[in-house]
Amino acid sequence: MDPTPNHQLRVPAHVACVMDGNGRWAEERGLKRTDGHSAGEEALLDAVHGALDLGVSWLTVYAFSTENWRRPTQEVRFLMGFNESLLIRRRDELNELDVRIRFIGRRDWRVPKRLIRRMNESTELTKGNRKLTLTIAFNYGGRAELVDAVKALQEDAVPVTEKAIAERLYDPEMPEVDLWIRTSGEHRISNFLIWQAAYAELVFTDVFWPDFRRTHLAEAVAEYQRRDRRFGGLAH
Ligand code: IPE
Ligand code: IPE
Ligand code: MG
Repeated sequence: MDPTPNHQLRVPAHVACVMDGNGRWAEERGLKRTDGHSAGEEALLDAVHGALDLGVSWLTVYAFSTENWRRPTQEVRFLMGFNESLLIRRRDELNELDVRIRFIGRRDWRVPKRLIRRMNESTELTKGNRKLTLTIAFNYGGRAELVDAVKALQEDAVPVTEKAIAERLYDPEMPEVDLWIRTSGEHRISNFLIWQAAYAELVFTDVFWPDFRRTHLAEAVAEYQRRDRRFGGLAH
């Protein structure tokens, strides 16, 4: 008999990815850090194709953290413009792939209005798609998300329960993270989906984000399938 229980061969429904290492990828090549961000676009599209091929239904990527405002103004400005233009360049293609685009994060005054418009347009354009939900975490921080959820809880004056908090996160429909990946050899959570990934399987790869391809995603899924998810219970 196959010693591997069936559930372990399941494809993770929700994969989250910290797209890290753009700057180092560029520096290794004598390029500007921002060239690394640009090169990450291809990796993102390939990861989306990989998720579609594998049958993953939710893919959440970390594009800009609440801490990334600490970077030099020029890099921050580049990232705002780059993300806006990426949406313009790629939204039709993603729409044709049956990808539903969503965003999580704070829409505060620091996020340019034009970018917010592109975000809203992309969400609206793709809202009927069903194959994959691609959530882009932008100006996202897990702690900020919890603070915002708790504030909403106070306003609604409802009892504090896990369910009540989960219902007030940026996207209450987002399922828990099954597989949580970080590229670039860093072994940190960096404030990404701290609530939703409470029981995620963590996979770290040394590949810098611009070199990440669907094969790396498939390898991470294979690693996930070798894990025994116990959720506090006993081994199978
Ligand atoms: C990740 O790459 C992209 C963002 C944080 C926006 P980095 O820019 O952090 O690249 P490294 O970690 O400095 O190499
Ligand atoms: C996390 O990467 C944020 C994103 C990938 C958007 P960082 O490069 O900002 O994280 P730290 O600073 O290494 O923890
Ligand atoms: Mg980094």
